[in-house]
Amino acid sequence: MIITIDGSAGSGKSTAARKLAARLELPYLDTGAMYRAVAYHALKQGVDFDDPEALTALVRRVKLELDCGPTHTRVKIDGRDVSEAIRSNEISRYTSPVARTQPIRDILVEKQRAIGRKLGSLVTEGRDQGSVVFPDADLKFVMEATIDKRAQRRHAELQADGEEVDIAEVRRNLESRDAVDARQWAPLLEPGAAIHIDTSRMTIGQVVDRLMAHIRQMGRGLGDEAK
Ligand code: DC
Repeated sequence: MIITIDGSAGSGKSTAARKLAARLELPYLDTGAMYRAVAYHALKQGVDFDDPEALTALVRRVKLELDCGPTHTRVKIDGRDVSEAIRSNEISRYTSPVARTQPIRDILVEKQRAIGRKLGSLVTEGRDQGSVVFPDADLKFVMEATIDKRAQRRHAELQADGEEVDIAEVRRNLESRDAVDARQWAPLLEPGAAIHIDTSRMTIGQVVDRLMAHIRQMGRGLGDEAK
């Protein structure tokens, strides 16, 4: 069973995907972590972010390893575990030029499909999982939330990680990433037959219950996985 969860930054998709995967005991793939790991590595290597060819050459060279468990995705780049280091606001900013470089997307999309083939069943989250990467997924969700709510959530996450940033800056960062996402995803954001969930007024528990209700209702993955 492949379940895709797409949505913008702060929509709650990562937490929901992780918790859903844990409930279903399926591996969880955080595809944003792949784009972030590339940005982190490029920054460390001093690659010019205005040079898509240099960025692409780096991606062709590096070894990107993903460990997908029911509660986590850990990511290693050239043998170094960067799972925590890639979460900062700085890396979020540097990830946009990586994510809009099409040859890099092609490489990472292929890697995501290979992970899907290898694992067979998984919960995967990103921007293009239901539309581009797994168009034949069993169940597709798209998560949304207001910009204020998303800024609040992202700010709380950064604070929990010990990063002191102004909420106005977090909001600006989200708006500029939204603008990139809109340019990139406008024609693609609508994966066929996706279920849209506005999480603005929902707790994470309610979001996961809603996802589970859809899984049961559609009679998919009943058996052991959806109990
Ligand atoms: O979901 P996130 O904030 O961790 O994503 C990090 C960046 O990667 C963000 O700029 C969107 C981009 N991304 C993407 O373009 N395609 C994906 N499948 C996942 C993330």
